[in-house]
Amino acid sequence: MRRMKTKVSVIGSGNVGATAAQLIYQSGIADVVLFDIVEGVPQGKALDLAEAGPLWNISSSIRGTNDLADTAGSDIIVVTAGLPRKPGMSRDDLLYANANVMRSVVSGTAPLSPDGIYIVVTNPMDVMTQISWKISGFRPQRVIGMGGVLDASRFRTFIAFELGVAPADVETLVLGGHGDLMVPLPQYTTVKGIPLPELLSAQRIAELIDRTKNGGAEIVSLLKTGSAYYAPAASVFQMVKSVLSDERRILPCAAYLDGEYGVHDLFVGVPVVLGRNGVEKIIELALTDEDKRLFSKSAVAVKGLVETALAPRK
Ligand code: NAI
Ligand code: 2OP
Repeated sequence: MRRMKTKVSVIGSGNVGATAAQLIYQSGIADVVLFDIVEGVPQGKALDLAEAGPLWNISSSIRGTNDLADTAGSDIIVVTAGLPRKPGMSRDDLLYANANVMRSVVSGTAPLSPDGIYIVVTNPMDVMTQISWKISGFRPQRVIGMGGVLDASRFRTFIAFELGVAPADVETLVLGGHGDLMVPLPQYTTVKGIPLPELLSAQRIAELIDRTKNGGAEIVSLLKTGSAYYAPAASVFQMVKSVLSDERRILPCAAYLDGEYGVHDLFVGVPVVLGRNGVEKIIELALTDEDKRLFSKSAVAVKGLVETALAPRK
């Protein structure tokens, strides 16, 4: 077999995993391994993608597997394995089931890819990121949660819809856990450099923030049989690319806080510089007292879930 170049393993070959695998494979940035516990699914999806390779001019490889040994030597391990939200189900309902999935996936992959970086997607994501870090034994900078990129992209989209401008011209940051208590930041939102509060009323901004907070649920209520995956997969891809190409993009991600923002020993969403070593830097924003309060409320909620997930079950 030819020598592997950069390697990304995607654990979980469902909607988010397979779509993320497609984006990574199609970009040519890395060889891709797609894993799932369901037999045939990762193999079938990987083969289907491989058969698109000639049409996409791809020279990298993709393969599907039910054997975690095939993930050995990964530069990045994207974890999407678990259960998705169903209508009426909160992200937190997934806590126990997905914590167990995370334990098996991370304990099975970390020893095989000791220099790898985890990008955790499975919900409740901030909690799953903390669990992945604990089980992997990796430096915290090499365990990163995906949520803020998606939440920010949703906020950007709704602002672009509202103003009739290109989504790419809208920039923003979102703080806090990937859940109902996330904290979109209008004062750190610009449209081609123009501060958002100069373009929209406070009331309209508040409505768009509400839509952003409910962005995941809005898709679930439309799809009825699952949750969002195109924008989540695109968010994963942006993070993968920033790491592998050492782009050092500033992206909101769940990162380990050790005193930053007054939070200790917790993974929660903050802006970070993402590069080849994972979280290269955490950016501490000046916040209003109200945003500090909201961020702290979100962090406390994440911490409570972490404690629940890690406590022995009765
Ligand atoms: P899905 O149900 O389409 O795919 C999940 C896959 O995981 C399935 O193929 C299943 O067989 C597999 N799986 C289950 N247990 C496994 C194990 N132990 N090892 C390997 N694979 C296993 O779900 P979807 O839509 O892809 O979502 C995946 C996860 O990502 C869910 O927890 C969902 O809530 C979360 N999510 C998080 C987002 C975020 O922003 N952080 C955004 C979108 C989804
Ligand atoms: C979302 O925000 C389900 O967390 C996922 O779409």
